[in-house]
Amino acid sequence: MAIEDFNGVVAVVTGGASGIGLATARALYADGANVVLADINQAGLTQAAERVREAAPGSAARVITVATDVTDDAQARELVRQARALTGRVDLLVACAGIGRGGRIEDLPSAEMRKMMDVNFLGVYNCVQAAVPVMRAQGGGHFVLISSVAGKLGVPMLSGYCASKWAVRGFSIAMRAELYGTGVGVTTVYPAWVDTPMFKQAAEQTEGLPIEAMLTPEQVADEILRAVREGQRDLTLAPNPDIALLIARTRDDPDRAEDSAGRAYYRRTHSQPQA
Ligand SMILES: NC(=O)c1ccc[n+]([C@@H]2O[C@H](COP(=O)([O-])OP(=O)(O)OC[C@H]3O[C@@H](n4cnc5c(N)ncnc54)[C@H](O)[C@@H]3O)[C@@H](O)[C@H]2O)c1
Repeated sequence: MAIEDFNGVVAVVTGGASGIGLATARALYADGANVVLADINQAGLTQAAERVREAAPGSAARVITVATDVTDDAQARELVRQARALTGRVDLLVACAGIGRGGRIEDLPSAEMRKMMDVNFLGVYNCVQAAVPVMRAQGGGHFVLISSVAGKLGVPMLSGYCASKWAVRGFSIAMRAELYGTGVGVTTVYPAWVDTPMFKQAAEQTEGLPIEAMLTPEQVADEILRAVREGQRDLTLAPNPDIALLIARTRDDPDRAEDSAGRAYYRRTHSQPQA
């Protein structure tokens, strides 16, 4: 369900202590929403709540923080319970909590891969599962699930991350079909690189790959609010020409896109002088 006016709604934002989550929480609060900030980083949450309040000084809307590890289903349920206690509703849930790990397949430990799936996919699943009954009972609501352009592509050195983001994509498509007619909407967001702490970490881990952040978290947040107002299903934000081209090729001719991505990666890694 599109939300045309955020004034007075209850919006839960996971990963709200940093990056895209924090920017989205600030934009929602500036538009009158009550914001429930959730993150595993408890100290970061307290600072983030101040930053959210600064976005609309004197606002009558509420900001609360709930320390939450989204990989734990009981904690996700408690988060939704506390959000619902504010006004009796949960109108919007923005699932931003995520981690990024890069590296060659043979170098990424299985435990790291499991953690990435746990946070990036199971974390989304747990929050959605906790909030769906509330939204069904109130006759509507909206989810924003953050995937990535990595959820539309196959990116060398980010294979595990891609898998976790394709999982979010597949889940959101199935979820839209399952919730058809309930008044519960889903926007899936596929951003290219965004200038956040995660991007800085990725830049170190994908050494040799030319990556550039052409989006700010604030731009992504503004687009998210617009997409929710318009009930948009797919919000793809790819200002990087190479990424936009790869997405178009993958849609039109997936085999050719796969070959050209592989060839480009091979050339890059085989033209570098050996250490
Ligand atoms: N930055 C990018 O280039 C980019 C691009 C596409 C998609 N994304 C996605 O956007 C989302 C937000 O990323 P960001 O760039 O703002 O990163 P970020 O690191 O700034 O923020 C992520 C937040 O998630 C929190 N978090 C991590 N594990 C958690 C857990 N188990 N439970 C609760 N919170 C947890 C972190 O503490 C952090 O505050 C992620 O899902 C990421 O994969 C990021």
